[in-house]
Amino acid sequence: MRNWKILTLALLLMVFLALAAFYHGLVLKRYQINTDKLKPDASIRIVLISDLHNHIYGEKQEPLISLIRKQKPDIIALAGDIADDQVPIMGTELFLAGIKGMAPIYYVTGNHEFWSHDIDNIKSIISKYGVSILENNYKPVRIGDSSIIIGGVDDPDIVLFDKADLDWEGGLHKAFSPLQDYPEFKVLLSHRPELIDIYLKTDFDLVLSGHSHGGQVRIPFFINGLYAPNQGWFPQYAGGMYTYDTLTHIVSRGISFNPRLPRIFNPPEVVVIDIKGK
Ligand SMILES: [Fe+2]
Repeated sequence: MRNWKILTLALLLMVFLALAAFYHGLVLKRYQINTDKLKPDASIRIVLISDLHNHIYGEKQEPLISLIRKQKPDIIALAGDIADDQVPIMGTELFLAGIKGMAPIYYVTGNHEFWSHDIDNIKSIISKYGVSILENNYKPVRIGDSSIIIGGVDDPDIVLFDKADLDWEGGLHKAFSPLQDYPEFKVLLSHRPELIDIYLKTDFDLVLSGHSHGGQVRIPFFINGLYAPNQGWFPQYAGGMYTYDTLTHIVSRGISFNPRLPRIFNPPEVVVIDIKGK
């Protein structure tokens, strides 16, 4: 009798773990950053979306759109690979139509948008929905009584398909060197998390990235990602918040969904970042 109880419990545990491992509903991931560059009672909420890869959630992206709307974002940041080189762009258009007008939207390219060989068309479609496309430039953003600066760079794969003679890192430093004169809190959108050593040489306070898809397979408390592009096995920047002396780096695990490449213990995530004054 006792053996049956143990066997039943073991089976239930295995079923629970299997359901949890392959769960692929959208989840929220929240982070808070405190800064003396905002007034003590000020707060700015950024919703970060990365790596949609044109996937369509539910009926016309409604589950994704309503989850973002419920967060009441001040800014929506799109950190690349929103479109894809293999999947029709309809998923991106449905998504952008749904979030249009919710908040100011800022976008940078990922590698897959360049791999499409159709980058100008993709940018033109995205800008049609009122999205600001950041390409080695920055803009001031006013939210209530607070001002921050948001900048962004094209994915470095621009050099493979568009501007072969471009000095990507040199261009980034040149574009953002004037920021050292600005006292505001500064946010950089850049698709690639593994280039953190370059971002650390800038004046940004917060960097938002994607690209690593959470390392595809996770084992909670043991492995934060098995494999990520451009990082390889057991990637250091698979997803999460990384804190340095001069900046904070948040790497989204993205909202990609590919049934041929399951995410394990790694559900697609909508990231909510509250920047609070102190
Ligand atoms: Fe990517």
